[in-house]
Amino acid sequence: MDQHGRKVNPPRSSYQNPKRIKDNDTFSANPKCFRPSHSPQEGDPAPFSSSASSCRALSTRRQLYEKPFPVYKQPVEVGSFSLDSERRFFNDARQIRYFVEPHPKPDFDLRDGYKDRFVKRDEGVKEKLDHILRWILANKSKLESSVAAASSSPALGVDVVTWRGHLTKLLTTPYETHEGWLLAATLFRGTLYLSEVETEASRRDRENRTERHKEMMYWGYKFEQYLCADDIKGSPDPGGVVNTNEAFCTVVQTKLADHKLLFSGEVDCRDGGPKSPAAPACYIELKTSAEICTTKQRSNFHRFKLLKWWAQSFLPGVPRIVAGFRDPDGLVVATETIHISQISHLIKNEYNCWKPTVCMNFCCEFLSFVRTVVKEDSPRVVHLFSWDPHQDVTYTVHRDSIYCFLPPWYVEGMTSSITSPH
Ligand code: A3P
Ligand code: MG
Repeated sequence: MDQHGRKVNPPRSSYQNPKRIKDNDTFSANPKCFRPSHSPQEGDPAPFSSSASSCRALSTRRQLYEKPFPVYKQPVEVGSFSLDSERRFFNDARQIRYFVEPHPKPDFDLRDGYKDRFVKRDEGVKEKLDHILRWILANKSKLESSVAAASSSPALGVDVVTWRGHLTKLLTTPYETHEGWLLAATLFRGTLYLSEVETEASRRDRENRTERHKEMMYWGYKFEQYLCADDIKGSPDPGGVVNTNEAFCTVVQTKLADHKLLFSGEVDCRDGGPKSPAAPACYIELKTSAEICTTKQRSNFHRFKLLKWWAQSFLPGVPRIVAGFRDPDGLVVATETIHISQISHLIKNEYNCWKPTVCMNFCCEFLSFVRTVVKEDSPRVVHLFSWDPHQDVTYTVHRDSIYCFLPPWYVEGMTSSITSPH
């Protein structure tokens, strides 16, 4: 498969095969303050601004991250879970949907049902990492038994637990010019948990969305309804209700340089065909975008939209996107399949465009930075990492604060019945 190590010219944007991972698996488990995970070019400043004993800030300047593509292991699905129409958690795949190939000239009206067949998730409810934590608890013995043989220190066998969406934000940070972020970090039993905190600006934007914006947010979900069936041999039901509480989430494990990651992300649908590959390669991401009529629009699509689309799907190893291009009235005028492995080729003629290697190196460096900073292992301590466009990443420390996000049921569940080594 071409995303598994077929020859690609730098910057490489594919996964590393297991053999190559082993060859490169010599990174220190405890990255030091001044050492990026790959040697910078001569003359490059270090991304951490630091004194001899502490690192206080991380630069997001793109040039610092123009280095060889870091080792990124092919993501492996270790499980999945579902959230039902009332946002209840189930440790199974009941919400998975099956992709149904659209007609070449589709007749999709994305506005249909907005007023009368739409149940919207309450975005004011902050779920933090709760669903992932529930999945971890439900699969604790499976996870811990796969670690038992290894002598690595985190009880869970992973260095970082988070949502895929949080990692997507990290990947796109060097190119983001509008929206900052806040990420809360807690070290618990050797594993770092990263959970996003809504910024004031983002809360204001959310509470002040225009009617047009609210309707356009529905369009993406409506597109999914036109292309997805609930059963493997079923058909889409465009007359049904769109309920954004419902979700199917994959849980994957992978490694970025020396960071073992476990993260979850919502998956739109899967290829249900008899020859479909195993997850996550069978998954398909669905997207909508404005129709492209001018070269300027195409360039903007490449520069801004494809960056976000690539980052979101590359992380969990979802190989393709089916995109619907819509007119201003919400009618889909064309659909197109975009292969993630082809995106770096699609953008190659854009002047001064984004680079996959910058995204991955920044993410890797950020995780090293966090691991350098966060030393106290306690669910009561949160380091709040903060970033605004054109600034460095900085942090503040909070003990027993409103930022604590590991719930008592998780802390107790992880500590009370620790799997016996015998
Ligand atoms: P589009 O992707 O077609 O824009 P996802 O693509 O991640 O599966 O998300 C499904 C849909 O949720 C999006 O469809 C969009 O309609 C809506 N959505 C998700 N995140 C959004 C955001 N930050 N702002 C606006 N809409 C969003
Ligand atoms: Mg989608």
